[in-house]
Amino acid sequence: MKKTLLVTFLALYGLSGFSQSAKSPLMGWASWNQFGAKIDESIIKGQADAMVSTGLATAGYKYLNIDDGFFNGRNADGSLKIDSIKFPKGMKSLVDYIHSKGLKAGFYSEAGENTCGSQWSGQPGGVNGGMYNHDQQDADLFFKTWGFDFLKVDYCGGLVQKLDERTRYTAIKKAIDNTGRTDINFNACRWQFPGTWITTVADSWRMSNDINFIPGSKAQWKSILGIIDLNKYLAPYASQGHYNDMDMLEVGRGLTAEEDKSHLSMWCILSSPLVLGNDLTKMSAETKEIITNAEVIAVNQDTTGLQAHLISDNGAGLQLWAKPLNGKQSKERAVVLFNRTEAPVAMSMKWKELNLAGPATVRDLWSHKDLGSMDSMYTTTVPSHGVAMLKVVGKQAKLQEVFEAEYAWINNFNLTQNSEVVSGQGRVIADAKCSGRAKASWLGNRADNYIEFRDVYANVAGNYTLTLTYISAGNQQATLTVNGVDTLLKELKSKPLTPATTTISVQLNKGNNTVRLSNASGWMPDIDKIQLDLNKFEKKTK
Ligand code: GLA
Repeated sequence: MKKTLLVTFLALYGLSGFSQSAKSPLMGWASWNQFGAKIDESIIKGQADAMVSTGLATAGYKYLNIDDGFFNGRNADGSLKIDSIKFPKGMKSLVDYIHSKGLKAGFYSEAGENTCGSQWSGQPGGVNGGMYNHDQQDADLFFKTWGFDFLKVDYCGGLVQKLDERTRYTAIKKAIDNTGRTDINFNACRWQFPGTWITTVADSWRMSNDINFIPGSKAQWKSILGIIDLNKYLAPYASQGHYNDMDMLEVGRGLTAEEDKSHLSMWCILSSPLVLGNDLTKMSAETKEIITNAEVIAVNQDTTGLQAHLISDNGAGLQLWAKPLNGKQSKERAVVLFNRTEAPVAMSMKWKELNLAGPATVRDLWSHKDLGSMDSMYTTTVPSHGVAMLKVVGKQAKLQEVFEAEYAWINNFNLTQNSEVVSGQGRVIADAKCSGRAKASWLGNRADNYIEFRDVYANVAGNYTLTLTYISAGNQQATLTVNGVDTLLKELKSKPLTPATTTISVQLNKGNNTVRLSNASGWMPDIDKIQLDLNKFEKKTK
């Protein structure tokens, strides 16, 4: 009996494997990095077959996404035409095939009139292939008639027409919703963070230009570092089911094994969708082992929906990234010690930096080894271009007391209108005099250009001391709003370019609190951070 149970358990586990939650970042494969616009039916079917036969589907990679390269203009009734030489049986039959393998099928379009391929990859069939003026007709065709489950919407035509991003992506989202399908995963591909409005419109959004997909070129690794840097302070905009998309992966396409592991580790801890870009029919055992590492994937798929923060950075290529796992106030942390330099380096982390009290256990997610329990810190040698990716479980979690402005919600960050970033809106800028070497700047001067600390968590309701660190250009002011209660902070003065502090007593609720700083009619000082004595009620433990 016992034996039967065990066998049944193993069979079930083997079949279902890592089950992807709708709230976790999407996992799959897309055709662009490997094949560009040179795709056809047999290539897509071959990749679908390989996704299943290699075990990738079991590891969690479920979406098989067809990217650019199939457009062929429109029929007289406005319906989209597909290149029938490349796809002789049409899209319905291909989606059915993908579904028959237990996979989900992804599609690609454009917010403007003309596709990227028509502009950049010699695909004249993409002229008038975009959704512009065809939102509902296309959404009905993609999701109701053909049965696709995912849509990436590019912006090459939109940019030429100077369309308004928010208007276009919102209209497309509405058309998707109108189909009655509630399970469609929607990706906006505007190649930069398009403004905080996107966080409720799309399930994921590209925040960078295309990853460099020339196998083995030096630019490939640099491009990966560049995307990580662009995503450094975008954590406040990620949430359950809504993620910053760092572009399709280049694992197995010319990087060293060490770089491949770093690339995947960073995409995982930064909660990007994991969309493979390699040829699944010709994968090395090493590539397969890297992309199917269940412990690393679990960091990405954690349903808390948090994206890692940069906890420390020596400014010369050594970085510590971390995020809580299994709940915002948990005792578990995923950590990446990232060595971007050209030589191996001993790197450390302290439990204090992770808001944990020790002792804490450490597990290496690449070697799959428990490294033991340590009192206050951990040190290891990290290879050049490599990572140590770890799970740390502390004896106790400490409440976060320091909230850096670079990790707060900046409401108008990168606000785009009519294909341009609106100037004079809040953003993070580097400042060596500020903690974390960064601050939020260009705040205020309009009502919606505010900064908000959304995760001020208190275990006990009561009065706390809030210390605001800022840099003022003369005599500026801001309204501090704590859970809807306003206090005007007048005469915020500092010496030129030098952080100053002011303290205010604030009333916090038990649980989550929101602290906003705003000024609808004048510029606010730059904000470095806020700090609250949130652990003051904590009972002392030995
Ligand atoms: C843009 C996108 C890419 C890819 C190509 C296809 O460059 O950013 O990811 O979809 O278009 O033409």
